[in-house]
Amino acid sequence: MRRKLVVANRKMYGSIPSNQSFFEGVLTGTAGMKDAGCAICVPHPYLFQAQSILSGTPISWGGQNMSRHDCGAYTGSVSPVMLREFGCEYVIIGHSERRARGHETDQSCGERFDAAIKAGLKPILCIGETLEEYQEGITDLVTVRQLNAVIEQVGIERLSLGVLAYEPVWAIGTGKAATPAHVAAILDFLRGHVALLNEQVANDIQILYGGSVKPDNIAQLLKVPDLDGGLIGGASLVTEDFVRICEAANEAG
Ligand code: PGA
Repeated sequence: MRRKLVVANRKMYGSIPSNQSFFEGVLTGTAGMKDAGCAICVPHPYLFQAQSILSGTPISWGGQNMSRHDCGAYTGSVSPVMLREFGCEYVIIGHSERRARGHETDQSCGERFDAAIKAGLKPILCIGETLEEYQEGITDLVTVRQLNAVIEQVGIERLSLGVLAYEPVWAIGTGKAATPAHVAAILDFLRGHVALLNEQVANDIQILYGGSVKPDNIAQLLKVPDLDGGLIGGASLVTEDFVRICEAANEAG
């Protein structure tokens, strides 16, 4: 039985005082939540603060990106070992805001998904089509290409050591979430694709949706049978909104 999971992607937002108030607000607001997990992915300079405040609580934390190397002359990069040292459970891999700037290819996402697993992290692999690809009707081709690049690298058996996040690029930060019907169709396709390779992995792997998830659309989205939770950007900048999304996931769990 898969557990619901809500992950905050705080992108490049926050400050020491505002993070503290967010962490404490989420801790209070989700106290007693049993049927869903919650994680907060912060900018790397704030990992120490996340670790200090969230250690020993039910809330997990994570990074938003990482190198595939453990150490080396890679100026500006952060290694999986470093993320583990700061207590991270999760790391986001292949967010479209990073893929779009040409920093990341399908292949590099596969390599880093692999490196994250080896370091004991749970990679959250973001996949999703652009607006043009959506309009062309090739969402399935794009997402399966992105997913296959990772499967080729890590092998199907290890895929469910991570998490998938279906995030249509056109829905991110636009206020226009994908409809539950669209999410249902793509998730059905993706889980079906994984099932052809390994049925157990298809049953086990958590698949999240991300893209303009808000307190007023999360309940409808969570009615999608294959959906296991959300990756939340903008709404994670408002403590109360994020807590309401966590509550909805807990109720759906
Ligand atoms: P959004 O972002 O919730 O602001 O659309 C989601 C994401 O980028 O992961």
